[in-house]
Amino acid sequence: MADTAFDVVVIGGGPGGYIAAIRAAQLGFRTACIDDWSRADGKPAPGGTCTNVGCIPSKALLQSSEHFEHAGHAFADHGIEIKGLALDVARMLARKDKVVVQNNDGILHLFKKNKVTFFHGTGSFTGPRIDAGWPIAVAGAAAAALTATHVVVATGSKPRPLPGVAIDNRLVLDNAGALALPAVPKRLGVVGAGVIGLEMGSVWRRLGSQVTVLEALPVFLGAVDEAVAKEALKLFTRQGLAIHTGAAITAVTPAKNEVKVSWTDAAGKTQDTVFDRLIVSIGRVPHTSGLGAEAAGLRLDARGFVEVDAECRTNLPQVWAVGDVVRGPMLAHKAEEEGVAVAERIAGQHGHVDFNTVPWVIYTAPEIAWVGQTEQQLKAAGVAYRSGKFPFLANGRARALGDTSGFVKILADATTDRILGMHVIGPMASELISEGVVAMEFGASSEDLARICHAHPSLSEATREAALAVDGRALNF
Ligand code: FAD
Ligand code: NAI
Repeated sequence: MADTAFDVVVIGGGPGGYIAAIRAAQLGFRTACIDDWSRADGKPAPGGTCTNVGCIPSKALLQSSEHFEHAGHAFADHGIEIKGLALDVARMLARKDKVVVQNNDGILHLFKKNKVTFFHGTGSFTGPRIDAGWPIAVAGAAAAALTATHVVVATGSKPRPLPGVAIDNRLVLDNAGALALPAVPKRLGVVGAGVIGLEMGSVWRRLGSQVTVLEALPVFLGAVDEAVAKEALKLFTRQGLAIHTGAAITAVTPAKNEVKVSWTDAAGKTQDTVFDRLIVSIGRVPHTSGLGAEAAGLRLDARGFVEVDAECRTNLPQVWAVGDVVRGPMLAHKAEEEGVAVAERIAGQHGHVDFNTVPWVIYTAPEIAWVGQTEQQLKAAGVAYRSGKFPFLANGRARALGDTSGFVKILADATTDRILGMHVIGPMASELISEGVVAMEFGASSEDLARICHAHPSLSEATREAALAVDGRALNF
């Protein structure tokens, strides 16, 4: 077999692609992964949006900015005084960049370890399937012509543009620019109160920016459980984020060193607000340019996503697609799950991904996390349910941490008691939510959770108490 003939070629090395490649190689397939992301010095930077300008760098900056805020505002309460607290943004960004490179290198190491052949460049279909398989060209420093029995498309997503607004990543920023601001802007505008807007808005607010968030929809965090969204709006506003829902942007006018945003507020009043920097975070769109979809006859849907069935099969035989480039939540762990499932299906196994048990996390402070159905979804579907809620204010560990905002809420079927959803706003919600995911995957009832012994003192006791509260018998509230 020529060394350009592969059983599986994965196009895209983000969480969907690199994980699919590793799993395919583990299953014994001759596997290649092609990814075009480069570091500033031109070296490969596999890991996609998530590693380079998404999950990883945003969490690095969220951590650094939280330390800064705690040092400035929370430590004194613990009897720790810091004199001459100073911020070194360049060092903070350098640390973030180092974390990113560690992750890029980790993926290159995993490719080697699992015998995945890595190509740094752009992968594209060059035409329909031939006898040897799908013809795939790699353009870039390591140009190559490959054939693949199976292809996994994992080309990810890119920021949705705001019509008429050019991103220059100096004044008007997308996620990449928002993660690389060289100094703290005094006045920071954010268009879109979604996950990126709230996380990046939190980072720069903690570091000293006056942050204004302009959201088009009349409701705040409409996809989140209403009680959680209400609590979040209250807490974020108290922290200093100015959040305007029902805001219609009419013009964005950059000047020399500032940018004017003209908008109409919820009451219909026109406003002009001047910012030093503006983040545009209004969602993401699938990325398929350069893929040669047309050459192969790969079908895209009306919104540009690669069309797939429930098992990630495209319209072409032995061509699969996973992650942000297909329907479903745009989350790294969803992309990974699909990557694993596809590799296993190629091997004749039964890969499985259940969107209902994919957890969501917004890494603000407090964190927001949920899995399953929201209360408004259950109402709309006419499902009879019981709800149990427990505030962190009544949790000993939260008090010791000095972080008592928020609550855990569990929703269970009124007849069977099966857990239908778990919603958390509070400290370490990102970790706490796993218990809800496990419970739902195992078809647990709220009583099951309530009967499990949880360590004391721990935040997870709030989960148990919320489960007890479903039956009206919380012990500590
Ligand atoms: P991507 O990660 O986008 O990877 C696709 C890769 O394919 C890229 O490297 C791209 O350059 C490459 N590529 C594209 N076309 C080609 C081609 N023709 N040839 C070769 N290579 C190609 N999700 C979470 O779950 N948790 C988070 O905390 C989180 N934080 C985020 C923060 C930000 C600021 C952003 C923007 C996103 C965040 N996400 C988060 C979402 C997450 O990044 C995506 O869901 C995830 O990266 C999708 O993985 P993917 O493999 O489908 O695509
Ligand atoms: P988003 O979909 O989360 O939020 C976009 C927001 O912009 C929405 O509230 C929407 O109503 C609003 N909007 C749309 N058009 C607008 C306009 N013209 N003017 C004002 N507001 C407008 O998208 P976001 O924040 O860009 O993030 C993209 C995706 O990346 C997320 O959906 C998520 O899947 C992923 N992500 C995940 C993270 C995590 O898991 N912690 C962190 C960051 C991103």
